[in-house]
Amino acid sequence: MIDWESLRQAATEVAARAYVPYSGYRVGAAGVAEDGRVVVGCNVENAGYGVTLCAECGMVSQLYASGGTRLTHALCVNGKGEVIMPCGRCRQLLHETGGPDLELMTPEGVKRMDEVLPLAFGARDLA
Ligand code: THU
Repeated sequence: MIDWESLRQAATEVAARAYVPYSGYRVGAAGVAEDGRVVVGCNVENAGYGVTLCAECGMVSQLYASGGTRLTHALCVNGKGEVIMPCGRCRQLLHETGGPDLELMTPEGVKRMDEVLPLAFGARDLA
């Protein structure tokens, strides 16, 4: 059984380390890999605004850097620890790493990845 509260805490802690001199908007992402490992990331902004890394990018990077496998659960929070929705681009990232079955905590409760990114473009389209 997934401990969503611990995952939210992990995301809130890492959001405090975000580098956000431009927007001031902190984001923390936390996910659980198939082997139970917890991976986290925070947003890292850049003077070239479009180069900004979302929190999910850091989390996905940590997933692969620490051994890979699929993400089974994930969530994102703002600087107050409130659950927020991943941006559209990061839904695509989460779909790639978690697949349609990934469980995402949203402001409306737990939803499957294929509910928050229906009809996703994916690896199968490239086959
Ligand atoms: N941001 C994320 O880190 N993840 C999202 O899914 C939404 C947006 C960041 C990017 C930028 O640093 C700040 O939030 C404001 O857009």
